[in-house]
Formats: sequence, C-alpha cells, structure tokens
Amino acid sequence: MNKVVLITGASSGIGKVTAEFLIQKGFKVYGTSRTPEKNDFSFDLIQLDVNSVESIQKTIQLILDKEGKIDILINNAGMGITGPIEETPTDKMRNVFETNFFGAIEMMKAVLPQMRKQRAGLIINVTSIAGYMGLPFRGIYCATKGALEIATEAIRMEVKEFGIRITNVAPGDFATNIAAGRYHTPVFKDSAYAVIYQKNLDLMDAHVDNGRDPKEMAEQIYTIIQKSNPKIHYKVGSFMQKFSIVLKRILPDNVYEKLIMKHYKL
Ligand SMILES: NC(=O)c1ccc[n+]([C@@H]2O[C@H](COP(=O)([O-])OP(=O)(O)OC[C@H]3O[C@@H](n4cnc5c(N)ncnc54)[C@H](OP(=O)(O)O)[C@@H]3O)[C@@H](O)[C@H]2O)c1
Repeated sequence: MNKVVLITGASSGIGKVTAEFLIQKGFKVYGTSRTPEKNDFSFDLIQLDVNSVESIQKTIQLILDKEGKIDILINNAGMGITGPIEETPTDKMRNVFETNFFGAIEMMKAVLPQMRKQRAGLIINVTSIAGYMGLPFRGIYCATKGALEIATEAIRMEVKEFGIRITNVAPGDFATNIAAGRYHTPVFKDSAYAVIYQKNLDLMDAHVDNGRDPKEMAEQIYTIIQKSNPKIHYKVGSFMQKFSIVLKRILPDNVYEKLIMKHYKL
C-alpha cells in the first residue's frame, strides 16, 4: 500500500514542488491550500487553513476516511514578515506566529493520535536557516521558525517511544512566492529606519529572486523519508548560509553580530 503523505501549503513553492516530486515517487499525496479551487494540480489539493483547528480536523478526517492512515506529515505552510520590530504592528506579528508556529503545532497535535495508533509516522517541519539567528528587519519571522525548531527538539523526544519520528528541515533562500505572500511593514517616509529598512527589503527580495530551485528541498525531504532514523535538524542552502549557523556556534557573540551587520549593510 502506498505511503500517505499530507503536505500543508502545497499550492505553490516548496510545498507544490515537493508534492509533485513525491507523487512521481509513488506516494499518495494530499496537499493543502486555503483556496484549493485556484488551479489544477497533479495531486489532491484540499482545503486547509492551519489557523483553524476545525479546518485541520476536517482535513485529517477526510484523509483518514479515504485512506485509513497518515504516514507522513510535512508541515510546510508558512509566511514571511518584515519590518523594524518597533514599527511592526503587533497583530501582524501574532498572525505570523499563528501560521508558522501554532499552525505547525496544531497540525502535529491533530495527526499524533492516529500516528500513535499506527505506532509509526514521520513529521517533517519546514523551518528556516533564518530561525537559527536574529536577522535585522526579519526578527519576528526568525523567531517563529526558531521557536518551531526548539519545539521540535522537545516533541521529538516525547513521541519516540510510540515509533513516531519528527525532524526539522531548514531552507535557505529558495525562489518561490514567499516574498509576495509576506507581510511587509510599510517603509514610513518619516521613519528613523526608512533608508536602511528599504535597503534591506531590496536585499531580501534579491536573495529570494536569486534563490535556489525548490526541487532541492523536495529531494532532501525524499531523502529524509527514506531514513529509518532521521537526524534532528537538516539544512538546505548555499554553503555560506549553512556555514553561518556553524559560525554562530563558534564565534564570540559580538564578532558574529558584526559579521551579520556588515552583511546587511548596517
Ligand atoms: N522560499 C524561501 O526562501 C524560504 C526560506 C526559508 C523557509 N521557507 C519556508 O518554506 C515554507 C514554504 O514556503 P515557500 O517559500 O514555498 O512559500 P510560498 O510559495 O509562499 O508557499 C507558502 C504556502 O503556504 C501556504 N499557506 C500560507 N498560510 C497558510 C495558512 N494559514 N494555512 C494554510 N496554508 C497556508 C500557502 O497556501 P495558500 O496561500 O494557497 O493557502 C502556500 O501554499 C514556509 O514555511 C516558509 O517559511 C521558505
């Protein structure tokens, strides 16, 4: 029987490419979107908003009614947010936490009872290399992904005895629709941050536009699926993006901060 995969945020970018990749590898794939009627897909695209527990429960039940099991959950749905923290509306910050952190947590809570019954299951949380550090004008996004990395470390230990494996995969910059779906705090003309924030926005957009092919993420996810004992953390990105995590571990904090500030022209 084919393995059943549920992947959130499969209407575009990393989620869509991963869903298409896994279909070709013979998996039964259910992708999700808040508005699944938008397009035609080579896999089942069903309605799910990770901010609604009711919508999550409905989707899980629909898959269980059809397939009787869920082998793999890929928690991929997510969104960005930019802005000087001082000027970013708090409700927008909460909204991104709801999607990137609580959304992924609610998804895990919803599939775990079934996976415990199966005494098997794999959950892959898509985080970000940006979750390993606080980056200027992206601090809230970094915090959502860093929080998910840490929560994954904990829940992974809690569910091990039930035969369930949980891991994180952190992308660097990938060419997707993420910049279009981000909440951008406006660059206020009279803001003390206007010049440097605008410069950083341009840098961020250039990084995503010149980002890597999402197929690399699909391949890494496929590799993880095949492992009997996946690691806690995986990173997929350029050498420098991955190395920046190593540098943070080994350099004194103030030296690392200087490097980041130089990189972002602060
Ligand atoms: N691209 C990068 O450079 C990069 C770097 C690091 C991490 N990531 C992470 O990778 C993941 C995929 O992002 P992407 O780059 O592929 O971006 P994307 O092309 O914008 O795709 C994001 C997906 O998330 C879904 N989504 C957003 N909010 C949702 C919600 N409340 N409920 C359900 N689905 C929701 C969207 O679906 P609908 O709009 O159709 O509902 C869409 O399919 C995200 O978690 C992102 O943070 C991306």
